[in-house]
Formats: sequence, structure tokens, C-alpha cells
Amino acid sequence: MNETLASLNAAIEGKSETESLAILAELFPGEVVFSTSLGYEDQVISDLILKNGINIGIFTLDTGRLFAETYMTLQKTNNRYDTKIKVYYPQTDAVENLVSTKGPLSFYESIENRKECCFIRKVEPLNRALAGAKIWVTGIRAEQSGNRHDMPRLEWDEAHQLFKFHPILHWSFEEVKQYVKSNGIPYNPLHDKGFVSIGCAPCTRAIQEGEDFRAGRWWWEDESKKECGLHAK
Ligand code: ADX
Ligand code: SF4
Repeated sequence: MNETLASLNAAIEGKSETESLAILAELFPGEVVFSTSLGYEDQVISDLILKNGINIGIFTLDTGRLFAETYMTLQKTNNRYDTKIKVYYPQTDAVENLVSTKGPLSFYESIENRKECCFIRKVEPLNRALAGAKIWVTGIRAEQSGNRHDMPRLEWDEAHQLFKFHPILHWSFEEVKQYVKSNGIPYNPLHDKGFVSIGCAPCTRAIQEGEDFRAGRWWWEDESKKECGLHAK
């Protein structure tokens, strides 16, 4: 695997984000996918893929608990690029069972309950979305959290048995915002209300000036626990 990782790194060395995405898409035709949460970062990557006609499938995970604004952003994005982003849902019986036995807000009660909800609503659907893929593109940025600081742009994901590529890993928040605004890309209007990282409605709040980027996610939990399992190692 190290050998392939080294050769892929060599193939994209010194290339722009768009060129890198195109190179990987050509090396693995039909086997590169991009997961979008429709947040600022992901809107940049969707734009790079869609406006350049790069052969990368785009999907989103609809947990059933997203903000109304996120659905609006999905529709606007589909309209803008005349596309239909693929949407994955959790398994009906798993959600029915969870909410019927534990109630609609079980995630506030314990970390275990929160992880159970994230597993049912995000992780299991993600596994289906990634089935058969060789490269998974994400909008992760190094600045977002301690965990993400030292990530390489291209890495082997042991859990999913594929490569992960983070094209805008080293972009600053300002650069992302500038790109979105100057290209007139549709974006989640919650970003204008202090929301930086946007996930499910009951588990996301706006942040104050100076707070950490992910402070608004699962804010009632310890700093160290704040990954939902999508990017767990
Ligand atoms: S999370 O781990 O906290 O949920 P975060 O919101 O930081 O993730 O987003 C990091 C990357 O995970 C995004 O750039 C995107 O690639 C992916 N991602 C997060 N949420 C979703 C979602 N609902 N659907 C698809 N991809 C997602
Ligand atoms: Fe459930 Fe909250 Fe995780 Fe969404 S972020 S899947 S509502 S626990």
C-alpha cells in the first residue's frame, strides 16, 4: 500500500487542487467519490469537480436531522450545476428502533448514545456510500481541530480500505470563504449567522469570535471526544 501511496503522491506533487482531482479521477475511473456536508469547504470542492466536469461521484449523508438551510443549499447546488447530488439515508428500521426505544434526543444523555445515533445516521450509510470506491475525497482542513492538524493530504484509510484525499487541507477559513464568495457559489446561509462547521441541527450551534472551529459541534461533550466516527481511525 505504501508503494501506491508514494506513486499517487508523486502523481499529484506540485499540481493544483483541480489538477490533482482530475489526475486521481483518471487513474481510478468511476472509483473516486466525494462526500459533501454542503458546508463552505465542501462547496469549494463541489465547484472544482462540477465546473470542470471531473469524473467524481458526489454524495451527501442525510441523517434526517439536518437544518432546513442545508436542504436549501443542496437544492441550490443541484440547480447551479444542473446536477443531482446522490443522497444516502439511514436504515429505516434502525432509526425507528432508536427513536422508539430511546426517544428523539437520546444523544444528549451520554456519549455512548450520541455515538449510537451517529453510527446509525451517518457511519452505516457512509459505509454503503463508500462501497467499491478506491479514493474518498473530503473537505477536511488542518485548521479545524487538533486531530486534523498533522493529517497528510493523501492517506490510506485502514478502516475503509481506500485512500482519502483532502484537497483543501491547507486552505485557511478566509481562503475558503473568499473562494465561495468571489465565485458566487451557493452556500449554507447559517454560515452568516456564526455557524462554521455545520452538522445535524440538534448537535450544532453557532460559535463566538475566538472559539475553536468545532466548538459548536456536540458542544456539551469533552473536546477529545468530538469526532462522529466518519473520520475515525
Ligand atoms: S464530522 O466528522 O464532524 O461530521 P465535518 O463536519 O468536520 O465532519 O466534515 C468533514 C468532512 O466530512 C466534510 O468535508 C465531508 O467530506 C464529510 N462529511 C461530513 N458530514 C457529511 C455529510 N452529512 N454527508 C457527507 N459528507 C459529510
Ligand atoms: Fe445523531 Fe447528533 Fe450524530 Fe446527527 S450529529 S447523527 S443527530 S448524534
